[in-house]
Amino acid sequence: MVIEQFDAVDLIRTKRDKGVLGTDQINWLVDAYTRGYVADEQMAAMAMAILLNGMERQEIKDLTLAMIASGETMNFSGLSKKTTDKHSTGGVGDKITLPLAPLVASFGVAVPQLSGRGLGHTGGTLDKLESIPGWQANISPSRMTEILEEVGAVVCAAGAGLAPADGKLYALRDITGTVEAIPLIASSIMSKKIAEGTAALVLDVKFGSGAFLKDIELSRELARTMVALGEDAGVATSALITNMNVPLGLAIGNANEVRESVEVLAGGGPSDIIALTVALAREMLAHAGLPDADVEAALSDGRAMDTWNAMIRAQGGDPDAPLPVARETHVVTATRSGVLVEQQALPFGIAAWRLGAGRARAEDPVQHAAGVDLHAKPGDTVTAGQPLFTLSADEPARFARALEALDGAYRIGDVGEPILDGGPLIVERIGK
Ligand code: URA
Repeated sequence: MVIEQFDAVDLIRTKRDKGVLGTDQINWLVDAYTRGYVADEQMAAMAMAILLNGMERQEIKDLTLAMIASGETMNFSGLSKKTTDKHSTGGVGDKITLPLAPLVASFGVAVPQLSGRGLGHTGGTLDKLESIPGWQANISPSRMTEILEEVGAVVCAAGAGLAPADGKLYALRDITGTVEAIPLIASSIMSKKIAEGTAALVLDVKFGSGAFLKDIELSRELARTMVALGEDAGVATSALITNMNVPLGLAIGNANEVRESVEVLAGGGPSDIIALTVALAREMLAHAGLPDADVEAALSDGRAMDTWNAMIRAQGGDPDAPLPVARETHVVTATRSGVLVEQQALPFGIAAWRLGAGRARAEDPVQHAAGVDLHAKPGDTVTAGQPLFTLSADEPARFARALEALDGAYRIGDVGEPILDGGPLIVERIGK
């Protein structure tokens, strides 16, 4: 019989009364919760106390390390290449991993991306890649190492063995209104990224209507907390704070986001996707000792595309196969001429989700061809009658609910009116 070191109720009372938990107490709590000794109700009360009263830096570090210790860790130190990874806090039309991973890998650096599936209005990278015929998200750690050595980039599903305490706690937070606590978000994200074994990490921390945290100050605090956790764990970490008030690029969905990513890899694509991909690639490559890498050249001369093709083939996919196309489309046109002054990210994310591109429950399938394609971005001049965006779905019954989400989400104004895009795309960098 295990003699329990602490009592969960005492620890909950400590946090409820704004006290500080010690390393031993946090280690016990996470271990006892993972074993099932600490009940969900108790952990939910603790999560709420943390949300309300916060945690000190040492407590956040202890929580992160305890969640890493709850499962297995990966180790790529045997690779002949340096490893560097990226994590985004998620946004609408955020397909940056798709062009970014092969772009960085084309410089001889390894990118081990353990990704997730989408829940709610932000899409999951694995859902997007699964729209490519044959592509497999589940690969073994040994195959992952082989692909990293041969191709350089892998995007695959994180196994349940990595930080299992976080998997259990995140699911509990999701149903108890305790997701939005910075110590819990930071330890959740960083426990998985540190357990993944990357030597360097670049965080894309978003703010704005389509982001998980709307307020830039909270995004800054989250970024600073995560950068400190990474550095403390010996992972070279930096963050970019980026604007998520407007959808990224022109495609929101799955197959259409793959299509847009391939355009970027072919040297074209929307300017915001190119700018963010290039900025994140520079950060990742600087961590890998290549601060002067000519990232744009690798996009325009086909090197990044060659790595993409190899990366998709290595996971069973056919990069040349046609992507799925939706059975039905619905085009929304401009009701007047003028300038598109507003296009809010969140409603467009919700619309794509209602069209079938996302899921409401973890076990639901996604419809790969469903989504929204934008034909204009804020600041563009439009003429009455021109298409503004196209909705795609397999079932036409979905259009009405998607259009409802978009009611008031975009506006055509007069030339000279301010553009409500929330300012520049990349606001600042945090890190050494
Ligand atoms: N993503 C995570 O992995 N964890 C959180 O807590 C929030 C976002």
